[in-house]
Amino acid sequence: MTETPKFPYPFIGEVLISQEEIEKRVNLLGELITEDYRDSNKLLLLGLLRGSVMFITDLMRKIHRPLTMDFMSVSSYSGSGSSGFVRIDSDHKTNIRGWDVILIDDIVDSGYTIHTIRKLLMDRHPRSLKTCALLDKVDKHKVEIDIDYCCFEIPDYFVVGYGLDLDEMGRNLPYIASVDLEKFEALRAEGKL
Ligand code: IMP
Ligand code: MG
Repeated sequence: MTETPKFPYPFIGEVLISQEEIEKRVNLLGELITEDYRDSNKLLLLGLLRGSVMFITDLMRKIHRPLTMDFMSVSSYSGSGSSGFVRIDSDHKTNIRGWDVILIDDIVDSGYTIHTIRKLLMDRHPRSLKTCALLDKVDKHKVEIDIDYCCFEIPDYFVVGYGLDLDEMGRNLPYIASVDLEKFEALRAEGKL
């Protein structure tokens, strides 16, 4: 009988943040946002596709305020690592003028994505604009940014799970895990991924 592998993807290193830890932090963040927006009736959660989807759908259930959601799809075009050029692949549909917007991404690395999209949204005259990320690699920021709501600060690891991917793999894992990049490259070279 073949044993079920420990992880559904063969390139996972280790679990860095468990499902329980994520749940706890997301609940707390939901409470905080509920309190901060107690006077708002026009709260819009604006997620960046596709990495923020699992986070946003969990978080919105913990915010006890009227709210709506929308999405943008963006990519930073570069070979490896961030270039600082952020391209909008698909824009949000809501007219955000007069809305209290929370811009939500899965992870902040160089900070270029959040920084660029934040600037662009400000020109669209929201009533207020805050930023939120599940994870923040604080040591890797290349631009001055403030993340108003963050669940976890992490060191410079490449991570997958809870919406985050490596080449579109790993998004469905319910925890955050590190990637064994050497193993990933070897499997890829053998044509196994
Ligand atoms: P930034 O513009 O350099 O801050 O990059 C942020 C974007 O890079 C995120 O929206 C992710 O799509 C991607 N990213 C950065 N680090 C990781 C990671 O460790 N795992 C998965 N995606 C990442
Ligand atoms: Mg992203």
